[in-house]
Amino acid sequence: MDPQGSGHEPEVAPRRAAQPLRILAVAVQKGGTGKTTLAASLAVAAVEAGERVTALDLDPQGSLAGWGALRTGDAVAVDRVQPWEVGQLAEILDILAQEGVTLVVLDTAGSSTGLAAALKDADFVLMPVRPSRLDIVAARPTLQTLVGLGLRDRFALVLNQCPPPPSPRTSTYAAQLRALGVLAEPGIIHRVDHQDALAMGLGVTEYAPASPAAEEVRALWAWIDAKMRASDPA
Ligand SMILES: Nc1ncnc2c1ncn2[C@@H]1O[C@H](COP(=O)(O)OP(=O)(O)OP(=O)(O)O)[C@@H](O)[C@H]1O
Ligand SMILES: [Mg+2]
Repeated sequence: MDPQGSGHEPEVAPRRAAQPLRILAVAVQKGGTGKTTLAASLAVAAVEAGERVTALDLDPQGSLAGWGALRTGDAVAVDRVQPWEVGQLAEILDILAQEGVTLVVLDTAGSSTGLAAALKDADFVLMPVRPSRLDIVAARPTLQTLVGLGLRDRFALVLNQCPPPPSPRTSTYAAQLRALGVLAEPGIIHRVDHQDALAMGLGVTEYAPASPAAEEVRALWAWIDAKMRASDPA
């Protein structure tokens, strides 16, 4: 960074000029919707699809970091970013890009505190919501934050913890969000495999690779990957 314009070479090269690094943030300012669960399993699914992934826990609660501490091996690097470090997030991302990381997954707190600072560098924001009016209405302030940051075409809601089909209510919400062009697919059904995987420090695709839960997470990563590439073909 060379904010004074001193003419010196920047210590850290701009992110875009180095390795292509994509930033996926998982955020919605409502608690318990599945941000950490999906951040963890999507990070693992992305590794399995060939990405070099670092997962950053921006939530002072530290749930994702706790999941990372349970893991063995280094398939996914998991680190914490403390609230007082969020201002340096761009620099942290630059360093990760130079280290050859290709995807950073940001897990964020279920509140508005520090959310804009956490999201401003995101290439795409996934917003997990349960298929209930309260969750979907509660996503509005996050949507306003995203629009304010110029991320209008770079977010989607994913319906998580859905009841098993047929669920007319889930289908109705999905149809409404799809019509608005803001639905990430597929929706993720409420399954204990997600809970058991996280409890063991695994992604659901590691815990139960042949399960429907794993299939859904792989398909969701493929959807997000394609959407990010379409938004930023460079
Ligand atoms: N698809 C799912 N199937 C079953 N359980 C789920 C699923 N998604 C999340 N859960 C469970 O729901 C609870 C909340 O999930 P999680 O902690 O991931 O949400 P969060 O949005 O990160 O919460 P917070 O806002 O507190 O950070 C956890 O008990 C988790 O195991
Ligand atoms: Mg969480």
